[in-house]
Amino acid sequence: MNENLGDKKLAVLGTGKLGGILLRAYLKQGLFKPQNVTATVKHGEKAAKLAKEMGISASTENRTAVRGADIVLLGVKPQIIGDVLQEISGELSPNALVVSVAASVPTSYIEQRLGAKAAVVRVMPNTCSAVNCGMAGICRGASTTEQHVEIARAMFDAVGRTVVVDEKNMDAVTGLSASGPAFAYIILESLAEAGVKVGLARDVATLLAAQTMKGAASVVLETGDHPALLKDAVTTPAGCTIDGILELEEGKLRVTLIKAVVKATQRAGELLFEK
Ligand SMILES: NC(=O)c1ccc[n+]([C@@H]2O[C@H](COP(=O)([O-])OP(=O)(O)OC[C@H]3O[C@@H](n4cnc5c(N)ncnc54)[C@H](OP(=O)(O)O)[C@@H]3O)[C@@H](O)[C@H]2O)c1
Repeated sequence: MNENLGDKKLAVLGTGKLGGILLRAYLKQGLFKPQNVTATVKHGEKAAKLAKEMGISASTENRTAVRGADIVLLGVKPQIIGDVLQEISGELSPNALVVSVAASVPTSYIEQRLGAKAAVVRVMPNTCSAVNCGMAGICRGASTTEQHVEIARAMFDAVGRTVVVDEKNMDAVTGLSASGPAFAYIILESLAEAGVKVGLARDVATLLAAQTMKGAASVVLETGDHPALLKDAVTTPAGCTIDGILELEEGKLRVTLIKAVVKATQRAGELLFEK
């Protein structure tokens, strides 16, 4: 289903890094109309800046922002989401869809504060959404319909790709694809550094590293082939690549990456409980 969101009223509560990336993309693509969008932040001067930049209504008033909204996008930090939900609970339209991108916050936590019948979809996107190359995991709450899920998919397909998962897997999505860009940047930076070590100019080395990672990822996505098979195709017997792979194995790259995702996944389960 291709959801038409053009006439829906959107309230973005917490228009920081991620909320800002999403909202800029929606307005640029015409997914939502500026006159149908309200955004909130904590600081008044930030609100004024957003209103001027985007041509939307922006303030620090969550209650006012959600009145009449069809879709409420929660982009605040997990630690303050309870306060924000308490603030807006009496103001939401009965048919409003609440889309939360807060790491670690279960749909049941939101439903308990907004009423069991509230339609809640939990999404875990990543910052690559800024260049329409995002990856988002989506899960449904207790009262969400197929149409609600389709609306959320349309909102995140607009900035990349989406996958619907069970809620029990959302922390894993957080540890892999939401934290993942940071891990990938470190690998990319290291490859570029290696290029400098073997004599390349830094800008050339960074381009080679970035385009190589993008290319390898594109081949996996477009062919659906197993990464191990693709790796074997690059690895000529007694050639250069196998010597490099030996170093990676000795340096425990695989196990280090696996541990990084496991730790980030565990941490994703803790954030809500910190103040
Ligand atoms: N960054 C990521 O890669 C990423 C990925 C996936 C999910 N997430 C989730 O996205 C959410 C936001 O993360 P972020 O990185 O975008 O954080 P951020 O840049 O700090 O944005 C948080 C925003 O919330 C605003 N805010 C604070 N208190 C508020 C209140 N009471 N009412 C309304 N707005 C309020 C802040 O306003 P001011 O600007 O005025 O301070 C800020 O604009 C988090 O829940 C995080 O788990 C982030």
